[in-house]
Amino acid sequence: MRTSEIRDTFLQYFRERGHQPITGSTLIPPPGDPVLFTTSGMHPLTPYLEGQRHPLGRRLVNVQRCLRTTDLDEVGDRTHLTVFEMLGSWSLGDYDGPQSLRWGYELLRDGFGIPESRLHVTVFGGEERLGLLEPDSRSLGTWRELGVPVELTGEDNWWSNGPTGPCGPDSEIFVWTGEGTPVGTPGTDSRWVEVWNHVSMRYERRRDHTLHPLRQSNVDTGMGLERLMMVLGGKSSVYECDVFEPWTRTVSQLWPGLGIEDFRVVCDHLRSSVVVCGDGITPSNTGRGYVLRRLVRRLLTVLWRHDPGLTLGDLPDEPGLETLGHFGQPREWYPIREVLVGEERRFRSLLDRGRPVVSRLRRRGELTGGDFEYLRDTHGLPRDLVEELLLT
Ligand code: SER
Repeated sequence: MRTSEIRDTFLQYFRERGHQPITGSTLIPPPGDPVLFTTSGMHPLTPYLEGQRHPLGRRLVNVQRCLRTTDLDEVGDRTHLTVFEMLGSWSLGDYDGPQSLRWGYELLRDGFGIPESRLHVTVFGGEERLGLLEPDSRSLGTWRELGVPVELTGEDNWWSNGPTGPCGPDSEIFVWTGEGTPVGTPGTDSRWVEVWNHVSMRYERRRDHTLHPLRQSNVDTGMGLERLMMVLGGKSSVYECDVFEPWTRTVSQLWPGLGIEDFRVVCDHLRSSVVVCGDGITPSNTGRGYVLRRLVRRLLTVLWRHDPGLTLGDLPDEPGLETLGHFGQPREWYPIREVLVGEERRFRSLLDRGRPVVSRLRRRGELTGGDFEYLRDTHGLPRDLVEELLLT
């Protein structure tokens, strides 16, 4: 299945069950939202989860581009991406969590053909620190009836959009990606890959940290499109999805010889930077612009560790244009190329200015903690950068 078929199958399944498709928003969350970027399809829906009537009704479905800064350090493994797409479905005070789990199970098994023996789920088992000791017994009962093995956890099965706002217990569906008969549980074996999260969004966390029932009990689900693609295609990582093909091809031709993790980081950060720029963000020292700056500088650090002469100026137009088209962003590569190359120039001159300073300090011996602080505070050179590019 290609990504577009997976997306269409998902949308169609929920349309047949009365869900109205809504247009995904950009990576920039609505004003007042506590996060920097849209990290999930529910962000633009917060007022409706809190009880406002949605003009399209109480059952919704969509595909939303998301960015999670919390996952940045994981990028390079098989399953984490900086920018990814989430297939989402919502019940705004309509059907309940068990109904959503049943539909989810049916879609994975019958719509996508995943054998039931390759499924495992996790369910909220109660957690004192969250102010809710009771396990989510309705989800537990539903999975038992369906015959799917369950692992109970605490905070891992609690979803919130930030320190305050709508939240609730969730149930995550994992698919076995190892060879042969599945073993272990999602908590003990990383070959269980999480694909779909169903949140019973029925609480609200207030500023004083207390938990209160929301005016209505909602269901908010989100499934990682690239992960589902990986699982269905029997691929070893999300980078083997069709949407990554223009990037993997370009990077392996332009810059051959990168190790697998570096290769993935370069592909992910390039594609993610293009999408972030496509939503109108430019590099800066704060907020969203800082995240973009970090992405570009990280990918250049990886490239320059291999060869300091490499440049983003060599990128052809095609992968960027294809990604912009995929996300429905303006298909103008030239301004984005300028942003990336401009950031490369600034980064290179920062390093050029830092190199003699580091050499001077090194003539006195090993760099001390104080030297690293000085380089960071006075010259804008963080320790990892000094170690990776200026001390080698
Ligand atoms: N909000 C939940 C999540 O991000 C479900 O969409 O996992």
